[in-house]
Amino acid sequence: MGLVGTTEMFQKAYEGGYAIGAFNVNNMEIVQGITEAAGELNAPVILQVSAGARKYANHTYLIKLVEAALIENPNIPIALHLDHGADFDICKSCIEDGFTSVMIDGSKYSFEDNIALTKQVVDYAHDHGIVVEGELGQLSGIEDDVNVSDEDANYTQPDQVEEFVGRTGVDSLAIAIGTSHGAYKFKPGQKPMLRFDILDEVSKRLPGFPIVLHGASSVLQNYVQIIQDHGGNLKDAIGIPEDMLRQAARSAVCKINIDSDLRLALTAGVREVMWDHPEIFDPREYLKVGRANVKEVVAHKITEVLGCEGKAAEMSK
Ligand code: G3H
Ligand code: 13P
Ligand code: ZN
Repeated sequence: MGLVGTTEMFQKAYEGGYAIGAFNVNNMEIVQGITEAAGELNAPVILQVSAGARKYANHTYLIKLVEAALIENPNIPIALHLDHGADFDICKSCIEDGFTSVMIDGSKYSFEDNIALTKQVVDYAHDHGIVVEGELGQLSGIEDDVNVSDEDANYTQPDQVEEFVGRTGVDSLAIAIGTSHGAYKFKPGQKPMLRFDILDEVSKRLPGFPIVLHGASSVLQNYVQIIQDHGGNLKDAIGIPEDMLRQAARSAVCKINIDSDLRLALTAGVREVMWDHPEIFDPREYLKVGRANVKEVVAHKITEVLGCEGKAAEMSK
């Protein structure tokens, strides 16, 4: 089986009340850690590439690493997705180079401009058999220093979603319900909160339509603690509680994006080895520990959060 799109994954996830993990890839160890876990647990998986990943690792290397993972894990469906595509040209170039799914992120534009840009990408992508994720509403970080009424304005407005999906033809929609990118999602002492009322309203208006959650790392405290105990400084790093993500995965949310948790796991492994064994200078010695942590996190997500363990079996090969 070659790289697949996400249509069947999302349809099965919607019907089955689970979600597919979309994990960001930046190097070989991350690709290996994710796909070894998914392969062993027979779980479909989305590997996604950001503009920052392309800048760091080079587009061609990342594509070839993902192709290698596919050869090593022939039992599972793997989709290669562009994360946060900023404009038409990046989406076009990824489609030409073999990506099976792209995101066009027009969320920072006005409603009309977002629709125009998203539709331009959808028309091109669909002509080439590729699916498109759009975004309505803006995720914010606590560092953005927004006040409550500004935050309200950033949430996805449910009364816009039918028009957005209808006029653009997107295949899935990322919405803003209180998640945010990075490791500092809530202020210390603040009760983590997601707007499930908005999610419910969106899914009522778009029955059967796959919803995407960005900024969905839990910022696993065991890795934060290892980093803190080995010379790091991640004070007050807080993520989305896992029970909230499980609740989302059971609903219309079919794709859950995870990057920060992989970064933390990898960093914890590398820091632990370097701190405890200052004599080590062979990169394989610390990267293999980081890679094992990435695998452990992904296995945990698949079994305890996403609910997609074994679901590769129900997808066409
Ligand atoms: O959406 C953000 C992802 O975590 C990717 O982050 O742009 O630093 O690669 P990045
Ligand atoms: P986290 O920073 O919560 O892992 O979010 C990643 C993401 O949304 C990638 O698009
Ligand atoms: Zn994102």
